[in-house]
Amino acid sequence: LVNLDIPDDEKGYELDVFCVPKHYEEDLDRVIIPHGLIMDRTERLARDIVRDMGTHHIVALCVLKGGYKFFADLLDYIKALNQNSDKSVPLTVDFIRLKSYCNDQSTNSVKVIGGDELSTLTGKNVLIVEDIVETGKTMETLLSLLSEYKPKMVKVVSLLVKRTPRSSGYRPDYIGFEVPDSFLVGYALDYNEYFRDLSHICILTEGAKEKYKV
Ligand code: IMP
Ligand code: MG
Repeated sequence: LVNLDIPDDEKGYELDVFCVPKHYEEDLDRVIIPHGLIMDRTERLARDIVRDMGTHHIVALCVLKGGYKFFADLLDYIKALNQNSDKSVPLTVDFIRLKSYCNDQSTNSVKVIGGDELSTLTGKNVLIVEDIVETGKTMETLLSLLSEYKPKMVKVVSLLVKRTPRSSGYRPDYIGFEVPDSFLVGYALDYNEYFRDLSHICILTEGAKEKYKV
């Protein structure tokens, strides 16, 4: 499958040409993926997913918190396809919360904190919706956890995949954008809970990493 490559030397856009919250102006250099481009790419991912997963009931599993914007927008596009075509696919939703990050470092333990009983996924077609895959550890852990509950099918869609030597080699079934090895925030991606309230995806400055450190 194709995905959209954001090259390592991508300059992006000056903050001033779009709308960025005043409280973050000092923390960001440039916009790397504008909100409109995220939406356009998401619309196409929705079409590819519906084409492949067919008319089987899909349980869309949102990986919180970073996945919530992408999840909501992706499901809106799937709903639009459902209500405007001759075939449609029933959708239900579920949420799981995972945590593996402290500051800008992936930690070795991936914790499941919250979510429904995973046993409700037994025999279902599950679409896992994630914000970003970096090392791949989070997704590999979640997939092996899920497999114990014997879902009928599992597909993974991640808005972003980072090009990094730290990758385990894991690749999601659907990828929105491949991005440079920098720490990205915005569109629900956070740095210690900040920057979820930013529409565009931006690269965090070193100064901001210091400022919001815990
Ligand atoms: P992985 O286990 O290394 O693949 O990391 C995946 C998780 O780390 C994602 O679900 C994110 O929550 C978080 N993460 C990785 N890179 C970034 C980033 O650049 N910005 C924000 N969160 C990130
Ligand atoms: Mg995440």
